[in-house]
Amino acid sequence: MAETSKNVILLQQTNQLIGLYSIIRDQKTKRGDFVFYSDRIIRLLVEEGLNQLPVEKATIKCHGDYEYEGAKFLGKICGVSIVRAGESMEMGLRDCCRSVRIGKILIQRDEETALPKLFYEKLPEDISQRYVFLLDPMLATGGSAMMAVEVLLNRGVKMDRIFFLNLLAAPEGIKAFQEKYPDIKIITGGIDEKLDENKYIVPGLGDFGDRYYCV
Ligand code: URA
Repeated sequence: MAETSKNVILLQQTNQLIGLYSIIRDQKTKRGDFVFYSDRIIRLLVEEGLNQLPVEKATIKCHGDYEYEGAKFLGKICGVSIVRAGESMEMGLRDCCRSVRIGKILIQRDEETALPKLFYEKLPEDISQRYVFLLDPMLATGGSAMMAVEVLLNRGVKMDRIFFLNLLAAPEGIKAFQEKYPDIKIITGGIDEKLDENKYIVPGLGDFGDRYYCV
């Protein structure tokens, strides 16, 4: 893991990780492999998110009363996925955190204004007491993620308790997001070159939701 700038955490670019990205970026990769290898990256992002959470020291009694100076997680977490693509990340979170609560936010482009618009939110009632993993695979312009963050802040979640997990980020999106929310940690597996004229990430991987969900 490398912290590229304050609060942007880039997964360590190991040969393994680059291999995984090479598969999902390849336009010839079929859906089954796209899902399988994206899921592996998502798992790594969730594990890194968990690494960021505070712990307190705990002394554990082991067999024969031997003691182990360990650690215990502090506080509760939940996931919030931005529908639809963000839902692809829910299973990775469930795999790591048993019975984790997961909320959803639906943001779509308004037909008239072409701006992102909030259509639906369903969040745990005690979300303000939790650490929140915001799930959306692609940080392009950051428009949807920023609208989702507004929903969380309105529900009383503190900025420094929000962790935004994504597989790929564009510099433009990171900049816009960080200018508005400097205390939110972005955890990403890759930072690409730029956005194209259609706001797709370059080189990117295309439309994540289409590739993950459509046969
Ligand atoms: N969403 C995607 O699925 N891909 C991009 O490149 C940008 C946004």
